[in-house]
Amino acid sequence: MLKEVIATRFIAPLREGGSLPGLVEADDSGTYVLKFTGAGQGRKTLVAEVVCGELARRLGLRIPRLVTVELDPELGLGEPDEQVQSLLRSSGGTNLGMDFLSGALGFDPLAFPVSPEEAGRVVWFDALINNVDRSWRNPNLLRWQGELWLVDHGATMIWHHNWPGVDASAARPYDASDHALASFSPDVASAAAELTPLVTGELLADVTAQIPDAWLTDEPGFAAPDDLRQAYARPLLARAAVIHERIQGLK
Ligand SMILES: Nc1ncnc2c1ncn2[C@@H]1O[C@H](COP(=O)(O)OP(=O)(O)OP(=O)(O)O)[C@@H](O)[C@H]1O
Ligand SMILES: [Mg+2]
Repeated sequence: MLKEVIATRFIAPLREGGSLPGLVEADDSGTYVLKFTGAGQGRKTLVAEVVCGELARRLGLRIPRLVTVELDPELGLGEPDEQVQSLLRSSGGTNLGMDFLSGALGFDPLAFPVSPEEAGRVVWFDALINNVDRSWRNPNLLRWQGELWLVDHGATMIWHHNWPGVDASAARPYDASDHALASFSPDVASAAAELTPLVTGELLADVTAQIPDAWLTDEPGFAAPDDLRQAYARPLLARAAVIHERIQGLK
């Protein structure tokens, strides 16, 4: 289970994000980046953040700690921005939070060299989860305390938008030609040798157990949240074994 906190104050919208994430303070005195369950992208974006974020963490990649944030829609009553107020109003209940990395810088490939080993691990991981949102235009990488941190795993696992077609979709190759780290000679072969053995059924069961039940109900074709958890694990397990041979577009 992810740690559960209760939002006590809405601080400000984070203007950079397309989904308009917000900054909130919670009852544990922490400051969190909040991704709203009522955002237009829908709750599947939040499921993807949890599955991919918790998988990344278990593979040794740096991602901010994830929590669930209980939100009382009344918190938005004093919010002057109409768009933010409507998001707060439609996001009562369980939302996703992540530790706010205060003072983090956006990734600049010219100012921050990345080793082929680290670039390889990130590209391999993005191929595994089919991340289409780590391009040089929008890297979703942060530099914090001298290290590279991964954020924003909402646009991944495209197959979860069409479960009947999951096998064909998850068998597709990954195009890394626009990847933010493509120019750092990513050593994908070493990354695959190191990380593939870690992606086991047991690890994926632990990862998918972190998804809150509230985001898994009423999915057509799935009777119970645990059935859907297994559906998330299966294509990742299959893809882990083969994806290093299906990464295209690297020189
Ligand atoms: N945990 C964090 N700590 C500090 N800054 C963060 C954190 N998470 C996100 N940010 C900043 O906020 C921006 C928007 O966050 P994120 O990319 O997760 O939102 P999004 O709405 O999914 O964005 P996109 O526009 O890429 O779809 C990031 O690019 C980054 O600059
Ligand atoms: Mg982003």
